Amino acid sequence: MLRFLCVSLLVAFSVSTAAAARKYTLLPREEWAEELLHDFISGESCPSADPALYYQPVIGIVSHPGDGASGRLSNLTDTSNIPASYVKFVESAGARVIPVIYNEPWDVISEKLELVNGVLFTGGWAKEGLYFETIKKVYEFTLARNDAGDHFPLFAICLGFELLSMIISQDHDICEHFMARNQASTLQFVDISEIQGSVFERFPSELLRKLSAECIVMQNHREGLSPRRLLANDALSSFFKILTTSTDENDEVYVSTAQAYNYPITCFQWHPEKNAFEWGSPFIPHSEDAVRVTQLLANYFISEARKSFIRPPAQKVRDNLIYNYSPTYGGKAGKGYDQVYNFHDIVI
Ligand SMILES: *[C@@H]1O[C@H](CO)[C@@H](O)[C@H](O)[C@H]1NC(C)=O
Repeated sequence: MLRFLCVSLLVAFSVSTAAAARKYTLLPREEWAEELLHDFISGESCPSADPALYYQPVIGIVSHPGDGASGRLSNLTDTSNIPASYVKFVESAGARVIPVIYNEPWDVISEKLELVNGVLFTGGWAKEGLYFETIKKVYEFTLARNDAGDHFPLFAICLGFELLSMIISQDHDICEHFMARNQASTLQFVDISEIQGSVFERFPSELLRKLSAECIVMQNHREGLSPRRLLANDALSSFFKILTTSTDENDEVYVSTAQAYNYPITCFQWHPEKNAFEWGSPFIPHSEDAVRVTQLLANYFISEARKSFIRPPAQKVRDNLIYNYSPTYGGKAGKGYDQVYNFHDIVI
């Protein structure tokens, strides 16, 4: 009887977890099933949405100079790109994307920033000129939004982390050289007690253990920050808490994940978006555990964006969504990003 009940319970779980948990020990099976059916039909067991959260979050992703395919798609100088893996990363967690095209006039960019609930800085190579200036202004917008009382998250990945380090330290040469091109690595947690309230807070302990022992995150960078240099810089050490470190080919240790103390800003020297969505390198981990890392990171990011108070006009959002553009298969050559969005209709 008990086993039958358990089997029924499993089936019923897909109908109503709350009702099942409430009733299965109290009522004979048939009565319970009837109650369950009643709850299901009347919908009375569906919890109402949390009014404090926004269930249609939109993320702005800043485009990066170039076609994202070493000129195979476009050589136009005003071309910029967003690798589709970042878009899928955001979409997979229940949000939509508005491309923030870095070389658009600032008034166009700032209008788009009014429509989003968080922003993402991608990897790449550009550290100078207009791209740097746009990243700096979007970062300053992020601070201002949060200072004004919103909860407006920023994920800064690889180059994004390096740029934030340069901006916050006001030192263009703050980054150091590392040998971490195209390799998978572990993450070493600096202080386990810091996991709560961080991007890793929803990770099961078994996966945290694997992160520190198995190479399931992807690195692809030549620069970075050693913990020593970050901590020696007053501006950086008062802004960032170091969550994890990793080790390069020469056994040099760099900061691989850092979180702002006072803002919902998380920086990654590694690439959470690649495990599930990029195939251009044989070193990208694609195991189930590796893909779970991508998914948990995306879920965390969008759970943060749902806390934002911005409720943008729906039609304006639709007019600016990345759905207005089509990605191109740039990875057919067996390298680089698999799919990229290119933008080159910019008049400045
Ligand atoms: C861009 O320039 C490179 C080098 O000249 C060339 O091989 C490539 O075909 C060009 N790409 C396009 C899309 O025209």
